[in-house]
Amino acid sequence: MKTLLTGGAGYIGSHTAVAMLEAGHEVAVVDNYVNSSAEAISRVEKITGKKVSLYDADVADKESMMEILSAEMPDCIIHFAGLKAVGESVAMPVEYYRNNIDTTLTLLECMRELGLSNIVFSSSATVYGEDHIPPFTEDATKGMCTNPYGWTKWMQEQMLTDAQFSSEASDGSANTANGWKTPLSVVLLRYFNPVGAHESGLIGEDPQGIPNNLMPYISQVAVGRRDHLTVFGNDYDTPDGTCRRDYIHVMDLAEGHVKAAEYADTHKGTEVFNLGTGSPYSVLEMVDAFGRACGHAVAYEIGARRAGDVQDSWADASKAKAVLGWEASRGIDEICRDAWNWQSHNPQGYNKTGL
Ligand code: NAD
Ligand code: UFG
Repeated sequence: MKTLLTGGAGYIGSHTAVAMLEAGHEVAVVDNYVNSSAEAISRVEKITGKKVSLYDADVADKESMMEILSAEMPDCIIHFAGLKAVGESVAMPVEYYRNNIDTTLTLLECMRELGLSNIVFSSSATVYGEDHIPPFTEDATKGMCTNPYGWTKWMQEQMLTDAQFSSEASDGSANTANGWKTPLSVVLLRYFNPVGAHESGLIGEDPQGIPNNLMPYISQVAVGRRDHLTVFGNDYDTPDGTCRRDYIHVMDLAEGHVKAAEYADTHKGTEVFNLGTGSPYSVLEMVDAFGRACGHAVAYEIGARRAGDVQDSWADASKAKAVLGWEASRGIDEICRDAWNWQSHNPQGYNKTGL
C-alpha cells in the first residue's frame, strides 16, 4: 500500500513511517518542519534501509498539496500535521484553528478532486472532556474541551465524519451528486499519552524549548539538562495523590497506525478507535520507572496542580483489539528504557550536540 504521512517528520509520524516501511508499505512524507527536522526522516531511512519520498510543504496550501497528491496518488493519507501544545493554543488560538482546521479542509478538498478515498486522523483522548469516568470507550459522548487545541481535534473529527457521510450514496457507491468520485473511508484514532522512542535510539521526541509533557521533562532532568521535575499536585484522589494516565509506547502506537491504514483500505464509513494500553500509571510511578531505567533517581518537587488537568484518563482499548487485531505490547519499563536510550544518545535532540 502507498501511504502519505502529513507531519511525518514529527514525533509520532516518524515512528509510524518506520512501522509502515517495516510492514512493507511505501511511505511519502509532507512536512513544513514547523516543529520537526528533516533529519528525523534520514534516520527513518537508516533504521529501515528504505527510501521515503519527502516533500517540504504546508499541508494547508492547496496548490502544493494538489501537486504532491496527484504525483503520489496514495492509497491512504495519515494526517498527523498539526500544532499540539495545549498551553500555546490558549495563547494563540487563531494560529491553532487556522493551521489545524485548514490542513484538514485542504486534504478533504484534494481528496474529493482526485478521488482519493482513505484517511486516518490523529485525534486525542482530550475529546472525551471531563464528563466520563475512565476507562473511556469510543461510544462515550464527546465532551467539552478545556482548550483550543482540544477543540481543533473535536472539530476535525466532526469535519471528517460529515465529509464521509456526504461522500457515500445510500447504495454505498460514491455520491457523485455531492461531487465525490469515491466514498471515503475515515479512521479516527484517539491517542492516549504517546511516550518512549524507537528502540534503536535514533529517533524520538524532540520538543522545542521547555517540554510541556511529563516524559520529555523527566528525560531532560535525567540527562542533566534540567534541575528537577515539578509534579503538578499530589492531592488528587488517587493512591499516591498524583494524576494517572495511559502511557503508550510510540512504537505500539505506530503499529496501531499500520493496522488502521490497512483497515481503512478494506472498509468504508467512519470508524473511531482508542489507541491506549488500558493500564493507568501515576506521575510518581513514571518517575520511579524512569529512575530504574537510567540508573539514578530523577529529582522532583511537588508543586501546585496544573490548570485544566484531569485526575484520571485511560482507555478501554478492547475495540482496537477486536476489530483491528491490535493491542499494545510494551510496558512502562520498555517505555523508559527506550526514552532514556534516545535522550542519552541525543541529549539535545536532532541536529544539535552537547548538553
Ligand atoms: P509533532 O509536532 O512532533 O508532529 C507534527 C508534525 O506536523 C511536525 O513535524 C510539524 O512540523 C508538522 N506540521 C504542523 N503543521 C503543519 C503544516 N501546516 N504543514 C505541514 N506540516 C505541519 O507532534 P506529534 O506528537 O507527532 O503529534 C502528531 C499528531 O498527533 C498531531 O496532530 C497531534 O495533535 C496528535 N496527538 C499527539 C499527542 C501527543 O501527546 N504527542 C496526543 C494526541 C494527539
Ligand atoms: N506533569 C507533571 N509535571 C510536568 C508535566 C506533566 O506533573 O512537568 C503531569 C501532569 O500534571 C499530568 C501528567 O503529568 O498529570 C501527564 O501530563 P502530560 O502533559 O504529559 O500529558 P496530558 O495527559 O496532560 O496531555 C496529553 C497530551 C495532550 C492531550 C491530553 C489529553 O499531551 O495533547 O493528553 O488527551 F490533549
